[in-house]
Amino acid sequence: MKIAFVASEVFPYAKTGGLADVAGSLPIELSKLGCEVKVFMPKYNMFGEAEHGLHYQWNIGEIPVRVAGQVHSVHVHTAKIPRSNVEVYFVDCPYFFHRFRVYTNDRDEDERFILFMKGVIEILQRIGWAPDVIHCNDWQTGLLPLLLKENYGWDLLFNNTATVFTIHNIAYQGRFSKDTFVKAEIKEEHYLSGGLGEFEGDINFMKTAILTSDVINTVSQTYAYELLTPEYGEGMESYLRKRSHDFYGIINGIDYQIWNPEKDVLIPFQYSSTNLSGKLQNKKFLIEQLGFEFNEEVPLIGIVSRMVSQKGFDIIGYCLNELMSLNAQWVILGSGEQRYEEMFLHAKKHHPHKVYFYRGFNNELSHFIEGASDIFLMPSRFEPCGLNQIYSLRYGTVPVVRKTGGLADTVLDWNEHLAKGEEIGTGYSFYDYTAHALVQTVQRAIHDFQLKDVWQKIQQNGMNKNYSWRRSAEKYVQLYKQAVIKKRT
Ligand code: ADP
Ligand code: GLC
Repeated sequence: MKIAFVASEVFPYAKTGGLADVAGSLPIELSKLGCEVKVFMPKYNMFGEAEHGLHYQWNIGEIPVRVAGQVHSVHVHTAKIPRSNVEVYFVDCPYFFHRFRVYTNDRDEDERFILFMKGVIEILQRIGWAPDVIHCNDWQTGLLPLLLKENYGWDLLFNNTATVFTIHNIAYQGRFSKDTFVKAEIKEEHYLSGGLGEFEGDINFMKTAILTSDVINTVSQTYAYELLTPEYGEGMESYLRKRSHDFYGIINGIDYQIWNPEKDVLIPFQYSSTNLSGKLQNKKFLIEQLGFEFNEEVPLIGIVSRMVSQKGFDIIGYCLNELMSLNAQWVILGSGEQRYEEMFLHAKKHHPHKVYFYRGFNNELSHFIEGASDIFLMPSRFEPCGLNQIYSLRYGTVPVVRKTGGLADTVLDWNEHLAKGEEIGTGYSFYDYTAHALVQTVQRAIHDFQLKDVWQKIQQNGMNKNYSWRRSAEKYVQLYKQAVIKKRT
């Protein structure tokens, strides 16, 4: 099967969150399953061309792409995702993508991704490659299925090309004013009231994708159910219900080449589930670097996150003093909304001997925190899949999570299962989105941390779980087949 995989961020070239990890690893697994995959992403200026071995494609040359009545020159570079044969096509348009960040609040944010989507289709035409499926991800690719059907419907190359749309996060929908569809040259009927792209008087890329892709999925089974409710659907629930026969949940996998404590070169001491001594050495090393006092009996709690309300920072805020007074040390990495950054800067200032906060994005430190911490905290209000708790499981860093979305599907609460006589728990979870439930659950974890045998059992249960991409990639192949059937009937 030929798959064009389209995403706004792909690791290791550009990453702001989990989408990049998925886009940098699922295509590799698909190719191992026999798919011919080409990945498409914008060519931003935050990564080095030479460092990543990009090649300019002379045989494609310059492609004129029109957005908002202006013709822009698009060029193409390619590279292979490290340790694979999967080719990435970089859509190069400096005017839109040389802005030192992946997403902007600039007034032409809509135009940036319209150019990207049209650019992808035009590149496919230039190279004469007809994918069986174009796999789009999140709102930045949400108009592509409609553009393909209508604006490029004349091209017989795409006669048998189906579209799949994956929702990684419904909170970001790509909402713009109506002239966005004029800029994209999409027919007027689609932005008039009740049209495919219209939502509450605006244009909505997410809604357009939901109503125009052959098949839709999201990144965990529980989030797929949640999305059908007003509580989680963010206004999209009725459209998803309309498409419920074509809507699936597939849990993300993990690239164990990158996230594996036995091989991870970004942590000072490697370790495995049968020999955890390296983990303790990592903890000692990190704690000493932070200038804290090392005490084996005091748990180190880690957080690595985008600092947005999705991730549960408001309930952390309500009980911050209580959390910081517990017998634990904290290492926190993240950036995002100022109010949350300030909250942790404040905590660091008031508890300099037990709280460390690094504001920013730091890939090395994110690995080090996984390798060194005892507990990983992720109390999300909603979580489509979540990757950090799955990394934590593999690193023996016991996750404390809220029972929602992918967190509910990947973390088994130790006490809940113990009550049933099963010692199969891999972490701690709570259901009510309250500061009270959060504190109680962190306390449960801190309590059990002192019970060495119990703790080691929980760690090993998690480390022995397998969330490699294989099984999920097989499900994607089934999904692609489904989309192809749908397209041809
Ligand atoms: P989301 O995509 O909603 O941010 P995920 O858990 O799926 O959540 O993925 C987050 C990814 O981004 C993980 O790989 C995590 O390690 C990484 N990450 C988040 N914040 C930072 C940061 N400040 N520095 C380094 N990596 C980060
Ligand atoms: C989104 C979600 C996260 C998910 C990631 C990759 O950013 O917030 O839960 O793991 O996409 O699918």
